[in-house]
Amino acid sequence: MARPPLVRPTAAKPHLDIQPGRNISGVLTVPGDKSISHRYAMLAAIAQGPTELNNYSSGQDCVSTLSCLQVLGCDWKRISGRENAIRIEGRGPELRAPARALDCGNSGSTMRMLSGIVAGQQFASQLIGDESLSQRPMARIIHPLTQMGARIWSAEGLPPLSIQGGKLKAIDYAMPVASAQVKSSILFAGLFANGVTEVAEPVRTRDHGELALRAFGAEVRQEGNRASIRGAQPLHGIEAHIPGDISAAAFFIAAAALFPGSQLTINDLLMNPTRARLLDFFGLLGTQISVLAVQQRHGELVGTLRVGGRALKGATVAGSDSAALIDELPVIAAIAPYTRDGVSISDASELRVKESDRIAVVAENLRAMGATVDERPDGLVIKGGQCLYGAQIDPHGDHRIAMAFAVAALRAQGETRIVNAAAADISYPGFFRDLNSIVER
Ligand code: S3P
Repeated sequence: MARPPLVRPTAAKPHLDIQPGRNISGVLTVPGDKSISHRYAMLAAIAQGPTELNNYSSGQDCVSTLSCLQVLGCDWKRISGRENAIRIEGRGPELRAPARALDCGNSGSTMRMLSGIVAGQQFASQLIGDESLSQRPMARIIHPLTQMGARIWSAEGLPPLSIQGGKLKAIDYAMPVASAQVKSSILFAGLFANGVTEVAEPVRTRDHGELALRAFGAEVRQEGNRASIRGAQPLHGIEAHIPGDISAAAFFIAAAALFPGSQLTINDLLMNPTRARLLDFFGLLGTQISVLAVQQRHGELVGTLRVGGRALKGATVAGSDSAALIDELPVIAAIAPYTRDGVSISDASELRVKESDRIAVVAENLRAMGATVDERPDGLVIKGGQCLYGAQIDPHGDHRIAMAFAVAALRAQGETRIVNAAAADISYPGFFRDLNSIVER
């Protein structure tokens, strides 16, 4: 099996050229789950005692969370000799007033969830972000946190946010948008509130916030689409190994799905049912999916995934599936032209307010590769049986777009150039190396 040498984007050569592949085979582990990494780090900061996290996400977003926590007086360090292992010194519920703005970089998770924590602090904080984050809606956290008693200033619901925290009061809040970041933000704020804070979500979203709070010792109730937490519960530090990120694995699963006969194993992968609908989706498309050696760690299911490529049929993604697959939709759309019957995605207007307008950017790049795409306000309809051609892909600074089109490029005719491929570093710095390690050419 010929594997071409690794090419990594650098500042001097920021693009990456991807050659088509013939097959996918190999065994991988992927970086620690981004959603869990953010939550464990934030809760570790306000817990009593130290926390050790192994396989903490290597992505820039999770570094942004750690930098913000440092500015809030929480010390952390990398554990020498262990890759991606960190030790966080918990401060207990009282953080230190920040001497400078909390820079959340590109990370919506950092800004939204950390807002819930600083809303409960007896000081003022300012949260800022990069150009993309500065365009992302924050009214969804401003409303509930304001109802709890925090005072928040922002221009038109966009970052930067200035938050004057203080003692909070419990609320019973029905979230208008399905967002796990918002749910976690409210539950984290609930730790600083008098009484029991309750959140109801329109459709069930990932429950890492609830599970993480329990792992750190809090009692959290979950009933259907409602979660609740009593204020003033003490948290204690933990030792954890964070499972591999299934949204990162999605790119490799999609790559394997493209080649009938491919065989891929991904070890130590997150299998939380609120995230694993991706596996059902690929099963429906025709891909062979099996899950082995499932275990539970801090309430999170973890297992080994085997993927076997088979001919791809087609699929419709709508309703609660669109929320459950929200981070995977770019790669699902990017490979849709290679399916037999095409893919139709609706109820996914949230894609328009991610790191880029993912509906528009996916459509633009698929068209650049020669596909016919029907762009809708809340999704995309992509016919099957189309041929894609190598082209220049502009990810618009969005990590998931850069990775999605690197996968689409594997079945295209000719070479594909991903401009600013280093955007992938936001969630997966070793992505192109790992992809290269499983492609047979
Ligand atoms: C996340 C929730 C989702 C997802 C994001 C991570 C989380 O965002 O797109 O990548 O960790 O809670 P929303 O909560 O905005 O849907």
